[in-house]
Amino acid sequence: MLNTAAIVALMKNSGLFSVTDLNIQTIGQLFSLASQFKHSFVRHKQFLRRNESLSYKSVALVFFESSTRTRFSFEMACNRLGIRPVTFIANSTTSIKKGETALDTLLNLHAVQPDAFIIRSDEDEGVREFFKTSQKPCISAGYGKFHHPTQALLDAFTIKERLGEIKGKKIVFIGDVRHSRVAHSNKSLLLALGAEVAICSPKDFMPSPSEWGEVENFEQLTSALDWCDVAMSLRVQKERHSTKADLSNFIQNYQLNKKSIGSLSDKAIIMHPGPFVVDEEITRDIVKDSRTVIHQQVENGVYVRAALLQKVLGDR
Ligand code: CP
Repeated sequence: MLNTAAIVALMKNSGLFSVTDLNIQTIGQLFSLASQFKHSFVRHKQFLRRNESLSYKSVALVFFESSTRTRFSFEMACNRLGIRPVTFIANSTTSIKKGETALDTLLNLHAVQPDAFIIRSDEDEGVREFFKTSQKPCISAGYGKFHHPTQALLDAFTIKERLGEIKGKKIVFIGDVRHSRVAHSNKSLLLALGAEVAICSPKDFMPSPSEWGEVENFEQLTSALDWCDVAMSLRVQKERHSTKADLSNFIQNYQLNKKSIGSLSDKAIIMHPGPFVVDEEITRDIVKDSRTVIHQQVENGVYVRAALLQKVLGDR
């Protein structure tokens, strides 16, 4: 559960590593600011609440794992706010190839004095410890298979936008829940906001009961889709598997396709955090279905991340 009594670490130095660093009031403020950004952008093609003091800020985007949406949307959010992003991607052109560690890389990037960091890494403790003693805020852009707080925020924002509210809504995560940082962060956030959560996963992809408690697992996709207001499909995260997954069983029983979504209500929405793999967890028909909001999720990511950056850097 979220720590509703917490002093908001986000506003201090340590940053946002998990949705549990946020309280309900802060989430409401972020959604309200994100909505304002969206409305002004849709009408005027700019963020009217742009804070001129942000023009002098620089943000380091540091990606030790691959990304398309998160990096691009943080960069676009910076751009719309007038913040200058400087991006580091740990590929073969960096000194990591020469043997420099991730933490030493971070120390060197820190020495260049950006005003804030946005970091995607499969290592969390070292990064958290580092930012405890730094005066710079840090926002997680995804941590291994454990946390993806800004994805959870943009998903919750999208659900609220499309369905009017989150409280009482039924969300089912379909597929590889065990290895999905998106599902872990979404589950904590959505439960705290009053939603009901369930999963529909094969045994090998079910999350640990110690983390997910008594969340219902639907054995039949048809029953899960009949129950839910939101069907969130998840990619099979092969890069995080220790053994080869049985994909043909997965596709037969858990893939969202024209035939399998027969029991989904016309009022329900279909989500996917991306990247999706066509003809594995989802088919092209579903990407094009009128209930699918995948590209709205991506668009909303810019507004939600801009709201977060405004809050983190606007008053500093
Ligand atoms: N949803 C998400 O985190 O996508 P990327 O890995 O492309 O950033």
